Amino acid sequence: MTSLDTAHDEGPSARSGASGGTAAEIVFDSVTKRYAGQEQPAVDNLSLTIGAGEICMLVGPSGAGKTTALKLINRLIDFEEGDITIDGRGVRGENVTALRRGIGYVIQQTGLFPHMTIAANIATVPRLLRWDKQRIRARIDELLELVGLEPEYAKRYPAQLSGGQRQRVGLARALAADPPVMLMDEPFGALDPITRGRLQEEFLRLHARVSKTVVFVTHDIDEAIKMGDRVCVLRQGGRLAQYDPPDVLLARPVDEFVADFVGADRGLKRLSLRRVGDLHLLPAPSARAGEDGTAARARVAEVGYETLILVDDDGRPQGMIGRDSLNGPVNASDARSIGVFGRLDMPLRDALSVMLSQAGSHLVVVDDDGRLAGLVSADLISAELAGTDASARAFDADEVPT
Ligand SMILES: Nc1ncnc2c1ncn2[C@@H]1O[C@H](COP(=O)(O)OP(=O)(O)OP(=O)(O)O)[C@@H](O)[C@H]1O
Ligand SMILES: [Mg+2]
Repeated sequence: MTSLDTAHDEGPSARSGASGGTAAEIVFDSVTKRYAGQEQPAVDNLSLTIGAGEICMLVGPSGAGKTTALKLINRLIDFEEGDITIDGRGVRGENVTALRRGIGYVIQQTGLFPHMTIAANIATVPRLLRWDKQRIRARIDELLELVGLEPEYAKRYPAQLSGGQRQRVGLARALAADPPVMLMDEPFGALDPITRGRLQEEFLRLHARVSKTVVFVTHDIDEAIKMGDRVCVLRQGGRLAQYDPPDVLLARPVDEFVADFVGADRGLKRLSLRRVGDLHLLPAPSARAGEDGTAARARVAEVGYETLILVDDDGRPQGMIGRDSLNGPVNASDARSIGVFGRLDMPLRDALSVMLSQAGSHLVVVDDDGRLAGLVSADLISAELAGTDASARAFDADEVPT
């Protein structure tokens, strides 16, 4: 299966924004799919709404009906019970070709045409739509840049690319005519963790630029949590187990099946969803060299700390000075190294990891310019998790034996 059979009649230049079309809301309304000869439905009475421009991650055990649910949207698989609407229009009432014009489709094996260059692969749909040559060439350049490939790749053949590069081309091809809906079935599944991570980041950056509604199937719960605005967990038999934003899924799994599925380390996973900059940082007493040590010492004592942060004239931390050394003018030679700094865009999970690996109960955080922004403590992190969801802890205590 390839995305050849998806066709799109409008390019980005035909739409409102320079870098992206509109997104569409997708609604599953009591959809049931039974394959011929199967007693159990593959998708059972599935109802959910995917907001326009959202990324919905579809997860669940093998055979739970993820691929089936995805293919019902562009009618690669037909169904009789219930309906799926895209911006209010039932997919079963649409002409299949017209329907697929608005849907990009990316699969794990990319389905690139081996005898065609990368440029020709990407141009598949625009050519079907009879775009003029110049517009197609411009679109190829734009897409290669968008997915992070050098322009010279346009002339190569798929066999001359790495797996990750082929995956990028598959993505570029699906994006070519700027469809409002993207369906992705384990698109990064075959890649090593580093390449996968890079493509995930790139896809998120891309999604922030071009507004699209994305339904993304994955086996990888970490990928689902990282990428999804919402995560849809299916259980065997294609029944919906839970449909929630990642943080809610981790904080309040509805039952033991979902709790098992998201993993026993879901508390740590929640930490990867938040960044240091999301916290209300603790104030850090600081002073420059030569300032009055007694006054500085009083400020440190006032907030109950043992150390002062020595900063330069621009407010960049240079070291830590113990409270007891603060006599007379603040002296740079009394300072000891701070170690690794925290940064505002650092996930809390990484911040905690740094704190565990170096002495001291606090992490010194700097802003984008390297200036002192404040402190993080382990208490602050756990208060953040507890504060945002007290009921999550009740579930921990009552229902999941540890
Ligand atoms: N063409 C078919 N005919 C009959 N049964 C099918 C067909 N395709 C899929 N099934 C069955 O439907 C169920 C759901 O399959 P589906 O491919 O949607 O699962 P999945 O969640 O994508 O699994 P995986 O994670 O392994 O890709 C499975 O029990 C599968 O055996
Ligand atoms: Mg599948």
